[in-house]
Amino acid sequence: MSPPRPDTQLVGFDDYAEQGRQLAAALGIPFLAAEIHPFPDGERKLRLPPPLAEHLVICRSLNDPDHKLIELLLAAGSARDNGAKRLTLVAPYLAYMRQDMAFRPGEAVSQRIIGRLLAEHVDAVVTVDAHLHRTHALDEAIPLAQAINLTASGAIGAFIARQRPHALLLGPDRESAQWVAAVAEAGGGLEYGVAEKTRRGDRDVDVQLPPLTYRGRQVVLVDDVASTGRTLAVAAQRLHEAGASSVDCVVTHGLFVGDALASLHRAGVDAVWSTDSVNHPSNRIPLAELLAEALRGLVVPVGQ
Ligand code: R5P
Repeated sequence: MSPPRPDTQLVGFDDYAEQGRQLAAALGIPFLAAEIHPFPDGERKLRLPPPLAEHLVICRSLNDPDHKLIELLLAAGSARDNGAKRLTLVAPYLAYMRQDMAFRPGEAVSQRIIGRLLAEHVDAVVTVDAHLHRTHALDEAIPLAQAINLTASGAIGAFIARQRPHALLLGPDRESAQWVAAVAEAGGGLEYGVAEKTRRGDRDVDVQLPPLTYRGRQVVLVDDVASTGRTLAVAAQRLHEAGASSVDCVVTHGLFVGDALASLHRAGVDAVWSTDSVNHPSNRIPLAELLAEALRGLVVPVGQ
């Protein structure tokens, strides 16, 4: 007899398979590997081996987003064509969330445009620490009844409390205030401050520290995302100039493009830690349990 068709499956992708398998295991649902063939001209063929469950959880972070967005559209479209009735996107890192307004007339508001695109193709989205600054709730960016923005601040706070129990936390810019405050609380009431950042270009930033005592302190920089690493590197330089005894960094999403990691160490950063929302050697804080808890109400494990 063939095994019962599961009600829910988790669709995973090669570059994010480990996290997908951990999440499927935590939920007690089968893992289905999407098959992708890149053609020489850059187009892609995608296959979801049948039979498909009625509810598919598509699990992939959207860093390095452009080809992943196309693959997501192919996966969602082919899933519907082959009988899936409900699609939940689990993208711990959501791309294009930082451009949340037109800073100059004519600029695309990427957050809204990509948000609408996702909402047209899936029924629910679950993410972690989405970059919502001027936007207050994820459903303002992704117009879905189930647009769920989890936070890793509890796990990050507990992690820092173990690694640096006496740390002073610092958010490098105003946008980080929400995360550093939550991490400080989750770390058992750690002291924290928020710096001011001036950005003149992609890799040209300056950071002004708030008036706190840094001499002799172990400081941990906390941010949602590190891309070039310039924000954290400049903050680390300022902290060393102010006498900090050590500087470490923790981020939810470690994009760390190019030589970002090396430049952080050159700026005097000791440890660099991140969640596993984006694959990187700095990954120390797994998200599977946080995601599974949010998804448990939405999926049906095999055999129930
Ligand atoms: C922006 O406000 C974000 O929270 C990060 O601070 C920013 O994206 C970091 O970029 P980078 O690492 O390139 O300085």
